[in-house]
Amino acid sequence: MLRAVNRAVLPKKYGGKYTVSLIPGDGIGAEITDSVKTIFKDQNVPIEWEIVDVSGLENAGGCGITEAVDSLKRNKVGLKGILHTPTTGKSLNVALRKELDIYASLVLIKNIPGVKSRIDGIDFALVRENTEGEYSGLEHQSYPGVVESLKIMTRFKSERIAKFAFDFAKKNNRELVTAIHKANIMKLGDGLFRQTVKDVGQDYPGIKVNDLIVDNASMQAVAHPQQFDVLVTPNLYGTILSNIGAALIGGPGLVPGANFGREYALFEPGCRHVGLSIKGKNSANPTAMILSSAMMLRHLGLNDHADRIASATYEVLSDGQVRTPDIGGSNTTTEFTDAILAKLN
Ligand SMILES: *[C@@H]1O[C@H](CO)[C@@H](O)[C@H](O)[C@H]1NC(C)=O
Ligand SMILES: *[C@@H]1O[C@H](CO)[C@@H](O)[C@H](O)[C@H]1NC(C)=O
Repeated sequence: MLRAVNRAVLPKKYGGKYTVSLIPGDGIGAEITDSVKTIFKDQNVPIEWEIVDVSGLENAGGCGITEAVDSLKRNKVGLKGILHTPTTGKSLNVALRKELDIYASLVLIKNIPGVKSRIDGIDFALVRENTEGEYSGLEHQSYPGVVESLKIMTRFKSERIAKFAFDFAKKNNRELVTAIHKANIMKLGDGLFRQTVKDVGQDYPGIKVNDLIVDNASMQAVAHPQQFDVLVTPNLYGTILSNIGAALIGGPGLVPGANFGREYALFEPGCRHVGLSIKGKNSANPTAMILSSAMMLRHLGLNDHADRIASATYEVLSDGQVRTPDIGGSNTTTEFTDAILAKLN
């Protein structure tokens, strides 16, 4: 796992415990983070949660984004569900990433044994730039009925996301980094991204570099995803491809993810679905959140805990006896969590 933060600088509490910000978020967030809390408690994982109840829903109460930012600034590490983004009004998810400059999103798309998928042999990492591109938030109506949306691409941010992708590839023995772009049309912006990834690749002689136009990449993703190893993308293409990737391996409930900055790391399901429609039904699949929490434990150097919890989760999935509705079962979130606890003990 790539470590964007030097572990030595992480604030540790008296008694060797780490304090971690926990942002359950909207929709199924409370249920799937409860699952993680239960498992961590059972396993005596040396973590103390600082719970931040922020919501993207109107009139939800709770605290605002400032509290979430402050908490993460204190603790440097967080676990997070997804915050609802209204069609009108700004995205708190984006605000949080921008405010803390957590620029790299990492999503792992891999078949899970025991979970039916359309295609086997899928194992790729998606590295997405989180802070600029299409998500710059610079839109205005210059004249009624005429809107300008600015997509910002910079060499600085393209370079640092490319470095992140190559460092990740190097540390994880991956062989190929593919830049995803639309440089045939957006010649300057996406051209800069594509060229920068190629340039940065020169510093990593063991790793191959190529590039794919996002249209073709989408087709390749559903036809021959086995060819992908590490994909590096600007903001919008990354979120689209992570959703395609989730569908390939069984759905958003299975895909873990993380966001890294120079100082902060925020772990959250990789395919950012809020799940408002199944909220409170005890039917959500907590796998994505549990595996994200295992990534978090590795980030904190708690590898034994991470391995045990991830293995137990994979075992329950491969046994196939207890499964949530999203992957064809009829068990509850609680039953699934209990099955993991049973494996652990
Ligand atoms: C589309 O992707 C495939 C596989 O990566 C590649 O062989 C092909 O040349 C690409 N086509 C275009 C038009 O880029
Ligand atoms: C899981 O669901 C199956 C099928 O409905 C059921 O037979 C089984 O008892 C459930 N498992 C648990 C642990 O509740």
